[in-house]
Amino acid sequence: MAMRVLSVASEAAPLVKTGGLADVAGALPAALAAQGVEVTTFVPGYPAVLAKLGPKLGKSKAVHTWDSLLGEKARLLAGKLGGHPLLVLDAPALFGREGGPYSDASGRDWDDNWRRFAAFARAAADIAGGAVKGRAFDLVHAHDWQAGLVPAYLRLAPLAGGRNVPSVMTIHNMAFQGYYPAGIFPRLGLPPSAWTVDGVESYGGVGFLKAGMQLADAITTVSPTYAGEIRSVEFGMGLEGLVLARSNRVHGILNGIDTAEWNPASDPRLAANFTAAKPGARAKNKRAIEQEFGLEPGDGPLFVVISRLTWQKGMDVLLEVLDHLVGIGGRLALLGSGDAEIERGFQAAAARHPGRIGVRIGYDEALSHLLQGGGDAILVPSRFEPCGLTQLYGLAYGCIPVVSRTGGLADTVIDANPAALAAGVATGVQMNAVSYGALAMAVSRACELHARPEDWKRLQKNAMKADFSWGASGAAYAALYRQLLEEQE
Ligand code: ADP
Ligand code: GLC
Repeated sequence: MAMRVLSVASEAAPLVKTGGLADVAGALPAALAAQGVEVTTFVPGYPAVLAKLGPKLGKSKAVHTWDSLLGEKARLLAGKLGGHPLLVLDAPALFGREGGPYSDASGRDWDDNWRRFAAFARAAADIAGGAVKGRAFDLVHAHDWQAGLVPAYLRLAPLAGGRNVPSVMTIHNMAFQGYYPAGIFPRLGLPPSAWTVDGVESYGGVGFLKAGMQLADAITTVSPTYAGEIRSVEFGMGLEGLVLARSNRVHGILNGIDTAEWNPASDPRLAANFTAAKPGARAKNKRAIEQEFGLEPGDGPLFVVISRLTWQKGMDVLLEVLDHLVGIGGRLALLGSGDAEIERGFQAAAARHPGRIGVRIGYDEALSHLLQGGGDAILVPSRFEPCGLTQLYGLAYGCIPVVSRTGGLADTVIDANPAALAAGVATGVQMNAVSYGALAMAVSRACELHARPEDWKRLQKNAMKADFSWGASGAAYAALYRQLLEEQE
């Protein structure tokens, strides 16, 4: 029989997405089905999720109910995610509110996020323990801090008479740890003995991600380089000691991309489809971007950005480099949202350089595809990047990644240095730790390469041929799951 895994995530594409976590959680079921693993995805029932699944799901009979899930009534609904099993936690008091998954419409985090995601984790531990008739699981895979308490409940407060299953904790971003004051501890429903550094305590408070990292049977993160980086003070964000202490349990498994969603030959969101062998139609997408962003038409290098506009992503540094980028003949089309100050900075740059810089503040899935399909190069100057997906989509679409050498960016892009160009293996441009000088130089190098059509064509071909589908990574997760099940026997 296939191994059955419960994947616990606070977002999963296409139901609800704020970033790469959703792409990964949404793609795992298919990636693992290919390895003989049946993944059931478990997500909170935000209004958007319930609406997307349709009125039928909302009215359908619950497969399980809780009279008091951390004090709230909740029901469990069953549906499908891309043909794979899906479970949804319908708990209106916790998730039935307008806004984003973690914040209200103005972007302010909900005050009770600790309680919302503790309840979500408690429910996951119950499900994994066998609370739902007819649904048994062999292993739980928890993603990010929102699911961080799952291993804690499984280990320290398991469902009475429930099944003991191993757990995997995946860190998609160490910068978000779900750290809360000690005062919440008595309300989590964990035994007093959980309040130790070997349990959920972290720097005098409760650490959700820390708890997961401490108590899971294995820790993974989304690239080999980031798995190494988080052992250091610079990237570990206070948890580097824990990573080091458990280093024989830490694995770096690179994210893949969903090649059904992201295939330039068939992508319906492009103005024109194209392939690695015949990329000529990219020009039509470039014209469509120019129109959409009010840019002067031209064959010169068109840079694109699709990003959260934050410090992590180096967007403050990019702002400083824009005059240089335009000065050497580049143009920029940017799609993103995030810090208000950075948003204003890009809008000001667009006003300063009409026709050369176009900015769209917001979130637009379709436009993100068009930008990859028509942009010449995608800028990803992150200060840290656990994996990064936009550079992978860029590679697949021949939109050359210009990235910093960190985390998954270091693992997926081959810099066009003379040796790599001579060997014919380069796929992009890398820079050292992001700074004005490093980014300005990287932008200049990209423009110089673009001005040499033969080199650029070669780069594009190599990029589009690089294989970042889920095959190898799906196999790596399946192997890890199997190893944990064997250890348990
Ligand atoms: P992170 O999860 O840190 O934001 P990733 O590169 O892993 O970074 O994933 C970001 C995902 O969100 C990608 O699928 C990217 O295309 C998408 N994305 C980011 N910003 C936008 C936006 N403004 N509009 C549409 N898609 C976006
Ligand atoms: C996080 C990281 C990003 C990664 C994504 C999916 O949001 O910031 O680098 O690609 O998770 O794992």
